[in-house]
Amino acid sequence: MRKKIVAGNWKMNTTVAEGVELAKGIVAKVNEISKGVTLVVAPPFTHLASVAEVLKDSPVCLSAQNCADQPKGAFTGEVSAEMLKSVGCCYTILGHSERRQYYGETSAKLVKKIALALENGLKVIYCVGEKHEDRSMGNHFDVVSSQISEVLFDLTPEQMKHVVIAYEPVWAIGTGVTATSEQAQEIHAFIRETIAAHFGEKVAEDTTILYGGSCKPSNAKELFACPDIDGGLIGGASLKADDFIAIAQAW
Ligand code: PGA
Repeated sequence: MRKKIVAGNWKMNTTVAEGVELAKGIVAKVNEISKGVTLVVAPPFTHLASVAEVLKDSPVCLSAQNCADQPKGAFTGEVSAEMLKSVGCCYTILGHSERRQYYGETSAKLVKKIALALENGLKVIYCVGEKHEDRSMGNHFDVVSSQISEVLFDLTPEQMKHVVIAYEPVWAIGTGVTATSEQAQEIHAFIRETIAAHFGEKVAEDTTILYGGSCKPSNAKELFACPDIDGGLIGGASLKADDFIAIAQAW
């Protein structure tokens, strides 16, 4: 059975002290969500050790927002998957559209990052999603299908158990414009079919597929009610503990 997950991507927001307060606020309310829902928070690198301490005796999982494409060595400014594991991360987000767009993340780089994350015992939240122009030209299925095949198809079915896919249409991220539940369900079903065609039905059925892009308490219920939407990757609304918890209460 696949997991229901609500993950908060804090992006480059909060100071360490603010991040610790936010994590405390989430931990304080984690009992208010249903047992079958996993909460994940992804603070900036600088906050991981302090937030790990807050999450220590709670069911909330710690995630990074990125990791290096090299295991270790002379790569100034980079943070390795092994370091993330050692600070207490269970997950890392990879392939977020902001990384693809502003930091030149290619499929080739993402293949290396995913391999290192999995080797080091991290689960991966792998982001895919089309830009506005792709959707307006009707290319969104092709874009998402390439993002999946180029990066995930060399993994084994065993490795896929540790991969969560997040569908985040770029035009919906931070814009206040959410995909309709019909648009989101349509592409989530397509993603599951794409996984099934390559890895088989069982792997596809067990893969958690999250929706991301202006997801908030007011629209989470409708989105999460769709059969192929297994939760959300939340940006802006994850920066307030009450909103984040309200989203996780959408089931
Ligand atoms: P948003 O961001 O919820 O602020 O749109 C989602 C994301 O980029 O993960």
